[in-house]
Amino acid sequence: MPRVVIVSNRVADLRKKSQTGGLAVALADAMRERGGIWFGWSGETKEEAAPAVAETIGRVAAVSLPLSRREVEEYYLGYANSVLWPLFHYRLDLVDHRPNFLDTYAAVNRRFATELVPYLEEDDLVWVQDYHLMPLAARLRELGCRNRIGFFLHIPFPPPDMLAATSNHREMVEWLLEFDLVGLQTSTDVGNLTRYLEEHMGLEEIGGAYRHGSRQVRVERFPIGIDPVGFAAMAREEPDDVAIDLMRRKLLGQRQIIGVDRLDYSKGLPERLRAYGRLLVQHPEYERVVSFLQIAPPTREDVDAYAEIRLELEALAGSINGRFAEFNWTPIRYIHRPVSREKLAPLLRASDVGFVTPLRDGMNLVAKEYVAAQDVEDPGVLVLSRFAGAAEELDAALLVNPYDVDEMSRRLHQALEMPLAERRRRHEELLEKVMRQNATAWLESFLEVLERPDGNQEAGTADQVAA
Ligand code: ADP
Ligand code: G6P
Repeated sequence: MPRVVIVSNRVADLRKKSQTGGLAVALADAMRERGGIWFGWSGETKEEAAPAVAETIGRVAAVSLPLSRREVEEYYLGYANSVLWPLFHYRLDLVDHRPNFLDTYAAVNRRFATELVPYLEEDDLVWVQDYHLMPLAARLRELGCRNRIGFFLHIPFPPPDMLAATSNHREMVEWLLEFDLVGLQTSTDVGNLTRYLEEHMGLEEIGGAYRHGSRQVRVERFPIGIDPVGFAAMAREEPDDVAIDLMRRKLLGQRQIIGVDRLDYSKGLPERLRAYGRLLVQHPEYERVVSFLQIAPPTREDVDAYAEIRLELEALAGSINGRFAEFNWTPIRYIHRPVSREKLAPLLRASDVGFVTPLRDGMNLVAKEYVAAQDVEDPGVLVLSRFAGAAEELDAALLVNPYDVDEMSRRLHQALEMPLAERRRRHEELLEKVMRQNATAWLESFLEVLERPDGNQEAGTADQVAA
């Protein structure tokens, strides 16, 4: 079995049992088991850039480097999270392109490539993760790297016309053409990228790959998953203080809706809070009975759009609570702090409704975790945005338009009143998919396609001979 080298912006802390963010959660367990190298940013910011250092954790060599203050500002907070993140989440209104962002993004990718090359062996499979590192294969190829290099995008890929709203759209897609395999979360994402390749670049698919010059690239869908068995076990663990409190409430006949998201504008949080407020207006019988727990830890706070969404959410939660709270009942409990997954799992299990309504999301692992956490005898109901990648598989959930506050409020009502037989039927269907398309299946299917021989090996040899 060839060695796998994962490259991502952040290297997950493999000593910690629990990670936040879909990418780290999906890869950490798999890498612990399989071993290999994990290369990326250490998460530290130094005054000056510094070289990578290696550390062995179990079977994984974690190779990480700090970034300089300028790199953090212009590459991570800048081009990655103020240009690519909003653009790829269909939010052209939030794209904030400033001078130097693109140059520093390119420079960090060049530095990653230069620092990574000495660690690579001939047969290693290199697997690059996410939008921070789209130019990495191009930079590695320039340094003579002939390894198989795959790319997986954890976030959505936008429609060609939307991508074309940025000046360097063609360059972005050319970066991707240097990989052997590009993996995306959904068939919508695959359709968006392949339409760009065909309509904007005139490329043609032959035998499952797009040829350009002497190379070819495959573009395929690999929906990411979780470790459902491990998560279910965590959800059944001896309940801690919070879950005990919840169970006490349950005994008193109280119900709970739960939301768990990084506090990101892509997650549709204001619309979600409004839908809950609308539910209380339309169903006064839910007052003092149905509460809403929203856990939304801070993320990327130095980007203006994130500071704004935080203020908006605090004001909304305050106004709904001000309107409906009683001396002995608070409708919305909003927690703006990180909460460990060990705590989240029993909380998801103890909640009657999982309310997952991003305006746009690559996959959304919380939706899958909510399904895995349920008691199969008496499962809760998942209310899920049609614009989460997960909706493509989890169509047995109650699917909603996350912009339509009225519809969401009606679906919440339907979820809260759903008979046990229907809850079980829907949950069984959901669980089957979450079990099948799990994190290990995702990883193995990607690597299997990446390893599959194609014309690129010969192209590599021809280049070598020519050189
Ligand atoms: P994203 O990748 O955009 O953050 P996902 O829903 O795909 O969204 O993944 C989030 C992951 O982070 C989930 O596996 C979730 O359990 C984990 N996580 C851990 N702690 C938290 C927390 N306090 N809030 C949100 N997510 C958390
Ligand atoms: C999403 C992205 C990941 C990222 C995570 C957390 O899941 O796809 O690449 O790591 O969010 O965001 P952060 O900016 O803290 O790494």
